[in-house]
Amino acid sequence: MDGDGHNRTETQRTSAVEPSTALAYLDPHYWDERFAHEDHYEWFKDYSHFRHLIQQHVKPNSSVLELGCGNSQLCEQLYSDGITEMTCIDLSAVAVEKMQKRLLSKGYNEIKVLEADMLDLPFTNECFDVVIEKGTMDVLFVDSGDPWNPRSATVNKVMAMLQGVHRVLKPNGIFISITFGQPHFRRPLFNAPEFTWSVEWNTFGDGFHYFFYILKKNET
Ligand SMILES: C[S@@+](CC[C@H](N)C(=O)[O-])C[C@H]1O[C@@H](n2cnc3c(N)ncnc32)[C@H](O)[C@@H]1O
Repeated sequence: MDGDGHNRTETQRTSAVEPSTALAYLDPHYWDERFAHEDHYEWFKDYSHFRHLIQQHVKPNSSVLELGCGNSQLCEQLYSDGITEMTCIDLSAVAVEKMQKRLLSKGYNEIKVLEADMLDLPFTNECFDVVIEKGTMDVLFVDSGDPWNPRSATVNKVMAMLQGVHRVLKPNGIFISITFGQPHFRRPLFNAPEFTWSVEWNTFGDGFHYFFYILKKNET
């Protein structure tokens, strides 16, 4: 797994820490070390590329949970577009601390940032209108083996994540997943019988296209 090198800013090009193997993305120490030295890196594409899709699906008064915020600017860009009830989580304590400082220094005092595992979400049932992730679920697939038939350990982790997302979404809430994972690999997981959400998607990007999945709870 990798970000889209074609669109890196100069800051990203000089500060990104590329691991020798993608398996590093499963190691919390990798992320802590990386975030200790890196202030901003935007995986895939920045908000400007999929803002039109967010505006189609997310109302400004929505309560939004972002999974695996890293050092992305997504939360502040959503906030600037009127989505002010934002909670971000990340497994990396370093990312969380730096994000808290950055948001406070820029005056985004209302955005909550918590250290938490997306496989074990510390929130009550049905408390968010929207859950969003960009490139975070992809981390779970780096040791999946054959993408047509992922290892059961991978499937179990992805299902734990999806069950948590489904649980914390309000009725009619939506899960937005921004990924390079193609529908034939994602649909079998998103469409597991226990989930009461519909699954649709758009693409965005030029040349290489990313997927913007929209899972609407209680609309099967
Ligand atoms: C590929 S980066 C994406 C960062 C950001 N969403 C973006 O678009 O630039 C993956 C992020 O997920 C975080 N992460 C990995 N596993 C996680 C987990 N189980 N729970 C929460 N965050 C996790 C990492 O610390 C990292 O910040």
